[in-house]
Amino acid sequence: MPERYAVMGNPIAHSQSPRIHALFARQTGEDLVYNRILVPTDGFAAAVAEFEAAGARGLNITVPFKLEAWNVVDRRTARAERAGAVNTIAMTRAGRLGDNTDGTGLVRDLCDNHGVELYDRRILVLGAGGAVRGVLPALLAETAAEVVLANRTRERAEAIAAALADLGKVTVCNPAEIANERFDLVINGTSAGLRGEIPALPEDLHIGGATAYDMVYGEASAAFCRWALEHGAARALDGLGMLVEQAAESFLLWRGIRPQTATVIQALRG
Ligand code: ATR
Repeated sequence: MPERYAVMGNPIAHSQSPRIHALFARQTGEDLVYNRILVPTDGFAAAVAEFEAAGARGLNITVPFKLEAWNVVDRRTARAERAGAVNTIAMTRAGRLGDNTDGTGLVRDLCDNHGVELYDRRILVLGAGGAVRGVLPALLAETAAEVVLANRTRERAEAIAAALADLGKVTVCNPAEIANERFDLVINGTSAGLRGEIPALPEDLHIGGATAYDMVYGEASAAFCRWALEHGAARALDGLGMLVEQAAESFLLWRGIRPQTATVIQALRG
């Protein structure tokens, strides 16, 4: 019997995770099945318990359940502990282990797939929701310079900066204040693109020559990528590679094998 895995979220119909994990399984010869599970917004804990009782071995968690997932596990990896959110659960004999592979996924995509240097670079991160909180620990681990965090609601950025202060320098500013600064990398971690919007930014923000990166992919990243290129970014990247890299890291946790990601990213782009 193949071992069972799934991704839980709401909505979930468009999740690419089943396709990614099917490609990983074929590539590595691992015998597993991976499905999507649409979970009612008030039914997450029950859905996890039901899936576990049916003999499941692991889960990915997506919007809007990553914070709740942090609470339903028995143990957490250090990076999940810091991220304050869980996107991967391994069902083990010792209970549920919660992990967060989003930050590693982002860093791997930036560094390994796109050759972006993070060490000592000036990085601007837009947004201060769960997605940004989840990836900042991994980003801070790679850069000795400061990360500038700009969010429409300043208090949320301040809360994240305070929670992660021991990991590195996070400077909070209002989006309107970043006019006279230069950045090597601008990461859009807001959910604005999901509604076809971009975060409001000053016209004279200098991102000439920078790499722009949107943590979402496909159509949701289009408006930000267009804005970045119009404002002089050297290139604008979407988050499809991050999605595949975080999946590979989940697969490694569950199966003890790290799949190759390049061919899978290619297949998804095709
Ligand atoms: P997620 O888990 O995807 O991060 P979230 O916690 O709802 O979702 O956070 C969404 C982030 O996108 C927030 O930083 C939000 O800004 P606020 O904290 O001010 O709400 C940001 N965001 C969403 N739509 C935006 C928009 N149109 N312009 C600027 N920021 C936006």
